[in-house]
Amino acid sequence: MPKELSNNTPLNKEIVEKILRSTGYDCVGYASIREVRQMVNQISEATGKEFIRMEMGIPGLPAPQVAIEAEKKALDEGCAQMYPAIDGIPELKHEIKRFVKNFVNIDVPEKNCVPTVGSINGAFASFMVGGRLSKEKDTILFLDPGFPVHKSLVKMIGLKQESFDVYDFRGEKLRDKLESYLAKGNISTILYSNPNNPSWICFTEKELQIIGELATKYNVIVFEDLAYFAMDFRKDLSVPGEPPYQVTVANYTDNYILSISSSKAFSYAGQRVGMLVISDKLYKTKSEYLKNFYISDDFGKSLTLGALYAVTAGVTHSAQKGLAAMLKACNDGEYNFLEVCRVYERIAKACKKLFTENGFKIVYDMDEDQPIADGFYFTISYDGFTGEELIERLMYYGISAIALGITGSSRREGLRACVSFIRKEQLPVLEERLKLFNEHHK
Ligand SMILES: Cc1ncc(COP(=O)(O)O)c(C=O)c1O
Repeated sequence: MPKELSNNTPLNKEIVEKILRSTGYDCVGYASIREVRQMVNQISEATGKEFIRMEMGIPGLPAPQVAIEAEKKALDEGCAQMYPAIDGIPELKHEIKRFVKNFVNIDVPEKNCVPTVGSINGAFASFMVGGRLSKEKDTILFLDPGFPVHKSLVKMIGLKQESFDVYDFRGEKLRDKLESYLAKGNISTILYSNPNNPSWICFTEKELQIIGELATKYNVIVFEDLAYFAMDFRKDLSVPGEPPYQVTVANYTDNYILSISSSKAFSYAGQRVGMLVISDKLYKTKSEYLKNFYISDDFGKSLTLGALYAVTAGVTHSAQKGLAAMLKACNDGEYNFLEVCRVYERIAKACKKLFTENGFKIVYDMDEDQPIADGFYFTISYDGFTGEELIERLMYYGISAIALGITGSSRREGLRACVSFIRKEQLPVLEERLKLFNEHHK
C-alpha cells in the first residue's frame, strides 16, 4: 500500500479529492484516457493550477504548410466535387511508393500503396480481409503492449484475439514464444507497433528477422504499425534514399502490411489520412473463403473495392492531395519531416531525467542491450504503487498520465507518459512537483 497522502500537495488536497471521488471510481487509475482528461480539466479549473499533461497521445506540433497549401489549392480547383479514387489518387500512390523506397528501402508497385482514413481505418480493413482468408485462421495476435483501439476493432468484427507482452521475450527468446502461438494454426495476422505505443521499445533487426521468418513459415500476415514512423531518434532516418532506413519486417518476409500514419511524424492527425503498403505476394493472394465476405477471391480487390469502399469509400480528396504534396517534398529532399519532431526527443530526455532523479524508474528501458530511444512516450513506476494508484496520487501533484494496464502490459506497476503537450518552460514546475512527490513517498 502506498504511503498516506501528505497535506502539503501542490494542488489543494480537498478539491482534488472531491473531484476524483465524484467520478464514482474507487481509484481513478482505472478510468479511460478521455475520462482522465476530463478530470484533469476539472481539477485545473477548480484549483487554478496548470497540469503537466502526459495522458493524451496527441501530436503537439503545427501541420506542415506544404500540405495545407496543397489542400487549399486542390479545393479551389474543385476537387471537393469529385469522388476520390477509393484505392488512392494516382499522384498519392506514386509518392507513397517513392516514400517507402526512400525511407524504408523497399520496393512495391504503386497499386499496393493505398491511403486510408488514418491508420486506424487501415488496420480495420486489414483485419476485415486478412482475418477472412481462411476459416481456421480467425485470430489476431498482438505483440503487446499496444494500442487498445486495435483490440476493440478485432472484437467488433467478431474475430478472436491473443496477445502477450514482448518485454520478457526480447531477442532470441521471441522465437519460441511466437512459434508457440503460430504453430496452433489459428493466427491470421500478427500486429505490433514500432516504435511501440506505449513503451517506446523498438524491435531490433534480430527480432524482426524472427518475426518475418516465422510469418513466412506459418503463412501469417505481419501488420507492422509504423504510427511513429522513423521516430527512433537514436538514428537519423531523415535523408531520402540514404541509409539508415526505418527498420522493417518487410526485409524478412513477403507477407506484410506496413501501416504508416501521417498523424504523428507529419503532425497531420486532423486530416485523418494514413497509408497501407502491402507486399505484392499478399496483394495478389487468392482465397475461396474470401468469397463468403467479398465479391472477389482476391486480397487486394477485397481490401480496396470491398472493405475500404464499404467502410469509408476512400479518403477525403483534398487530404490525399495534401499528403501527396508533403510526401513529394520529403522525397525530393525539400522538407525534413523529422527535424520538426525531434522536439519530442529533447523533451522526453529532459523529463526522463527529472523522473529518474526523483525516485521513479523507467519500466520498459532497454532494446536488448541498448537503452530505448527518447521519443513520444516513456513508461514510469514508483516503488510501492500499482500503476492505477500512481495515476491517482500524481493527480494531487498536478501530473497526469495513463496506467499501462489498459495496453496489455504485464507490468501493472507502470504508467505511460506522453511528452507531446509538455512545453520547455514547464520543466522547472515538473521538477518541483516530482521533488515534492519523492520527499513525501521515499
Ligand atoms: C500505435 C498506434 N497505431 C495507430 C494509431 C492511430 O493513428 P491514426 O491517427 O493514423 O489513425 C495510433 C495513434 O495514437 C497509435 O498510437
